[in-house]
Amino acid sequence: MTTIHLIAAARPNFMKVAPLYHALAAAPGFTPLLVHTGQHYDVNMSDAFFTDLRLPEPDFHLGIGSGTHAEQTAGVMVAYEKICMETPPDLTVVIGDVNSTIACALAAKKLGIKVAHLEAGLRSRDWSMPEEINRMVTDAISDILWTPSPDADENLRNEGVAEDRIRRVGNIMIDSYEMMRPGIEAAQTRDKFGLPAQGYGAVTLHRPGNVDSAETLGPLVDALIQIAARIPLVFAIHPRTRARLTEFDLAEKLAAAAGIHLTEPMGYVEFMGLVREARIIITDSGGIQEETTYLDIPCLTLRPNTERPITIDQGTNRLVTAETVGGCVDEVLAGHWLSGRKPDLWDGKTAARIVADLR
Ligand code: UD1
Repeated sequence: MTTIHLIAAARPNFMKVAPLYHALAAAPGFTPLLVHTGQHYDVNMSDAFFTDLRLPEPDFHLGIGSGTHAEQTAGVMVAYEKICMETPPDLTVVIGDVNSTIACALAAKKLGIKVAHLEAGLRSRDWSMPEEINRMVTDAISDILWTPSPDADENLRNEGVAEDRIRRVGNIMIDSYEMMRPGIEAAQTRDKFGLPAQGYGAVTLHRPGNVDSAETLGPLVDALIQIAARIPLVFAIHPRTRARLTEFDLAEKLAAAAGIHLTEPMGYVEFMGLVREARIIITDSGGIQEETTYLDIPCLTLRPNTERPITIDQGTNRLVTAETVGGCVDEVLAGHWLSGRKPDLWDGKTAARIVADLR
């Protein structure tokens, strides 16, 4: 039996870990064990995803919670190292680019445990983003690099990574969508807000670069209020953003604006149900750029760069600012938006390719 730790830490990890967990559990010869670091802990940031994605209770729960980058990363390293020393796995699989990704990769690697990175090779070239540092360090020390797209392979090659460490397996997020498709199509999330299909936009915002200062968050709130006068918006508010809106006295203004429906973060099925029937998405998330490319829905990404350029080159994504987002919404509403195409290997079979690669 090959024992594999799957590290699940924060919201964007859960939907990526689920298809791989289920595929490994069904394959003879593998024992997948779930390690939840506790980086995200609210019911609607964590438990809802476990329920939706039919994941069992984690085998290990580190309970780390929030903190500064060093506190969080160090806390996960210390706790995960203990587990690895007591019951070492044959392989540790880390996912994405959150603080727990780099923490578990470092702890395992230094104990001589093999490490695989799922969603390897993505680069924003923006060193002000903590995720870019997490990606670079994790890729540098991982034995196996499972990539979602050719640009990721190219980034790794350019950094001198040996060819035999790079394995293009595709985009595992699409596996989750396909796995949950019947539930997503039945969800009718928009009913809750009394909105018609294709008659609203969905919004998420949580990047520190957008929400952590009043100088950036204020103009974004103003832009959303203006857009909501043209198309209703459903804004699912991340806990970080909710705290900042209150701190900067923007919460009441936003709540009072016509056409804006504010809501708590949603579980996976409910949220994808909302996205699927939206006319437009406004976001700074990484994963939603990919999901909208897959679903052929216009995506306006409030960031100066993206580590997922394929969503622009082949998909429906465009980078915008607080100043340009309104004009782009008008273009979408006028029907001036290019359709995208699905990138290769974004087909719902990524987990199966990973299992084959492990064999
Ligand atoms: C983290 C990831 C980011 C990812 C995002 C998705 C890092 C460096 N960042 O950012 O890449 O896109 O998750 O959400 O790993 N909080 C709660 N409840 C929770 C979790 C967080 O209230 O369940 C609050 C806490 O006040 C916390 C803050 O949100 O301090 C930020 O959480 P944290 O995990 O530090 O970073 P995210 O902004 O969520």
